[in-house]
Amino acid sequence: VTNSESSPQPDLAALLEGLVAVEEAGRARLAGAQTVDALRLVTQEVLGKRSELAATNSQLRLLAVEDRPVLGQAVQQVRERLEVEADTRRAGLEAAERAARDRAEAMDLTEAAALAAAEATPLAATLPLPPLPGHRHLVTIVREELEDIFVGMGYQVAEGPEAETDWHNFEALNMPPNHPARGMFDTFYLNLGQPGSVVLRTHTSPVQIRLMETSAPPIYAVAPGRVYRRDTPDARHLAEFHQIEGLVVDRRISMGDLAGTIEAFTSAFFGPGRHSRLRPSFFPFTEPSAEFDVTCWVCAGEGCRTCSHSGWVELGGCGMVDPNVLQAVGIDPEQWSGFAFGFGIDRLAQARTDLSDMRALLDNDIRFISQF
Ligand code: PHE
Repeated sequence: VTNSESSPQPDLAALLEGLVAVEEAGRARLAGAQTVDALRLVTQEVLGKRSELAATNSQLRLLAVEDRPVLGQAVQQVRERLEVEADTRRAGLEAAERAARDRAEAMDLTEAAALAAAEATPLAATLPLPPLPGHRHLVTIVREELEDIFVGMGYQVAEGPEAETDWHNFEALNMPPNHPARGMFDTFYLNLGQPGSVVLRTHTSPVQIRLMETSAPPIYAVAPGRVYRRDTPDARHLAEFHQIEGLVVDRRISMGDLAGTIEAFTSAFFGPGRHSRLRPSFFPFTEPSAEFDVTCWVCAGEGCRTCSHSGWVELGGCGMVDPNVLQAVGIDPEQWSGFAFGFGIDRLAQARTDLSDMRALLDNDIRFISQF
């Protein structure tokens, strides 16, 4: 009964001897695996169902009853030792792979120190420096330039969240629920809280509200950041783009201050001889409202296809902060007045670099980014 009909009874001593060879071969194979992935395969082959170890184990049932525990224990001991071996090897390989990854991704901070040293001492400045890894994105470069211009005019740089409440994005900006002006913005609603109560901000104007809620006037601030609209991306539109908002609240601020500020910004950013003009328009949160144009960046005002032969291109919206908006944030419109403006940063980056398709800004291709 102990023997199968067809197989002859195996020899215990030969099996035990074979086991020694199985263990040795197993160890060698585990030690030879060069990656965590390779080790996983080898471990399967050495310890899995189709391994030689499993084959030896399957001989158990052919042995005499009294011999079975001897082989059984021997197999179990070999299995345990090989498992320990596999675990140790895996830990070693994982550590090595982690270290290699860390090395590849490391930022060499001594490069920054070397740069600082180069600026401090003319001698060091003559030494060649290794190139810094990575590159600022074109949109970041333009955004920082805009920030610098406004900081130079005494403005603070502010930020707000990209997931915004309906209150900040619309309602406090004089667009109550169902107000038709909400139709100016193709909105992404988020599945958070009450339906329709949280949106991906459609403009940077909600940062106006946050600024006025948290600080008392006088306020001089710009707020650059990412905004979202349910637009189909094409050469001149992205569903995810960047704006910069400006907000000034102080005593006796007038439309003249707004026009002068935009003119000062225009010549600082585009260069002397470049001008701006305001055209009447409508925004629910400013009254009066205007759109502002700047001297065409392609033809410098001569007239060309880009500006439809007018010499001007439209850049953004602006106006005097509506008294309703001041009231919504508890600022007394009898004492304070202000202006606001907003425009797209990606458009500026596109104009500046003659970029024919805006979607390149999202491609995350270092070869594109490195050109700027
Ligand atoms: N938020 C407006 C837009 O995105 C622009 C704007 C900002 C208009 C500030 C007036 C004042 O179209």
